[in-house]
Amino acid sequence: MFCNDRPSPGSGMEDGDSDEPADPSMTTVSHHVFEDDAGKPVFSIAMIENTAEEYGLYVWPCSIILAEYVWQQKTRFAGANVVELGASTSLPGLVAAKLGANVTLTDDANRVEVLDNIRKVCDLNNLNCNIMGLTWGVWDVSIFNLRPTIIIGADVLYENSAFDDLFSTVAFLLQSSPGSVFITTYHNRSGHHLIEFLMVKWGLKCVKLVDSFAFMPSQKASKLSGNIQLAEIVLNCEPVKETSLGK
Ligand SMILES: C[S@@+](CC[C@H](N)C(=O)[O-])C[C@H]1O[C@@H](n2cnc3c(N)ncnc32)[C@H](O)[C@@H]1O
Repeated sequence: MFCNDRPSPGSGMEDGDSDEPADPSMTTVSHHVFEDDAGKPVFSIAMIENTAEEYGLYVWPCSIILAEYVWQQKTRFAGANVVELGASTSLPGLVAAKLGANVTLTDDANRVEVLDNIRKVCDLNNLNCNIMGLTWGVWDVSIFNLRPTIIIGADVLYENSAFDDLFSTVAFLLQSSPGSVFITTYHNRSGHHLIEFLMVKWGLKCVKLVDSFAFMPSQKASKLSGNIQLAEIVLNCEPVKETSLGK
C-alpha cells in the first residue's frame, strides 16, 4: 500500500474541469464541485495547479477523495480544529474550512512556492485558514500550539524514507490532543505493506479502513483510477495485534 515510487500526476485534475489546456509549464485553475444527496451543487472550490515538474502542484486523486469524505462527514468537521499535513493545493482542508472548521494548512517549510500557492488558493476561495510551514519530524514551536481534533493528509504516504518523520509528527499531534484522529487517503502504487510495522512503532492503530470507491459519487469515481484507500488512525494504548491494512 505504501510505495517507493514517486506518484505521477495524470488523473489529479480529472475531478474538476480545467479552464486551460494541460500545458506542463502553465498554471491552471480547476473547479471542484460538492453536491447534496440529490446531486444538486452546493459549493465549488477553485484550485490553482502548476504542472511544471519542478513545481509539482497538482490536485492528486487522494486529495479529491479525502475532500469528498470531509464533505460527506460535514457535521463532524463543522467547528473542528483541523490540521492538514502535506496540503499542497489543499482541497480537503478548504472543504473543511467551508464547513466551518478552524483549519491550519501546512506543507514542507522549505517549499516556499507551495506555501505561497496555499495563500493564493485561500484568497481565491475567500476562505480564512491558518497557513504554516510544517516539515514532518521537525519540532518548531508552532507545532506545539496546534492541538488539532482532526488531522488530515492526502497522499502523504508515498515515499518510504519520509514515513518515520510523518508518523512521528502524526503521533505527536495525536498525543497533544486527546481523542484526536488522523484521516488519510493513500494510493497503493506498489503493493508494499509497511503500515503494520509503523503503527506498532509509533503506538497507533487503524480504526477505519475503507476503499475510496465505496463512498465516492459515481460521477467522480468514474474519473479516478487506482487502488486508493482511506484510513482513520488513532493512538493505541495497547500494542496493535492485527490490522486489516494491506490484506
Ligand atoms: C503527493 S503530494 C500530495 C499533495 C496533496 N495532499 C494532494 O493530495 O494533492 C505530497 C505532499 O507532501 C509534502 N511533503 C513531502 N515531504 C514532506 C515533509 N517532509 N514535510 C512536510 N510536507 C512534505 C509535499 O510538499 C507535497 O505537498
